[in-house]
Amino acid sequence: MSALAELCEEIATCRDCELAGHRTKVVPGEGAEDADLLFIGEAPGWHEDQQGRPFVGPAGQFLDQLLASIGLRREQVYIANVIKCRPPQNREPLPAEIETCRRWLDRQIEIIQPRMIITLGRYSLARYFANESISKIHGKPREAGGVILYPMYHPAAALHQGSLRPIIETDMLKIPQILSETGESPQRATEPQQLSLF
Ligand code: URA
Repeated sequence: MSALAELCEEIATCRDCELAGHRTKVVPGEGAEDADLLFIGEAPGWHEDQQGRPFVGPAGQFLDQLLASIGLRREQVYIANVIKCRPPQNREPLPAEIETCRRWLDRQIEIIQPRMIITLGRYSLARYFANESISKIHGKPREAGGVILYPMYHPAAALHQGSLRPIIETDMLKIPQILSETGESPQRATEPQQLSLF
């Protein structure tokens, strides 16, 4: 078994915080162990909690479309969350839960060694860009310790606020160029697809 698969099995047994008592399934993350791109969301929602997989609800469908727009499928990137269990009633993750869960994401990043970390939404943003506002820094890459950090709005934001949708799409489309400026482009499985409305 790969180091990442072993780690995900370990994550799936975690009972380090009280979210363990509320979850249906742990959602460790999924994708390629050698992914160039690591997307970090917030926390599993209802659909993710049912299936044990990240971004499989409406926000996930949009994320899949965004990936397709740069010629990628989710199996070619890695998708994880700041916290691995769904907070009850989808409430916001508590600082203590984020802190307790932090070691899992740290270890995932150590194994995957992505070239680019894309933060989706406020909680993953805060991990790297404390006290900065997403409206100012989205779509602007920064280099830190050999990794490109790239803040984006959370895909779910477009579901609530339609005006963010083209902004998110544009930010996603910049990713191949940013990667190619710092090395090779991510391997394409398919031709980029037109984004369609859901
Ligand atoms: N939103 C997230 O932040 N993560 C998921 O896995 C699903 C929705």
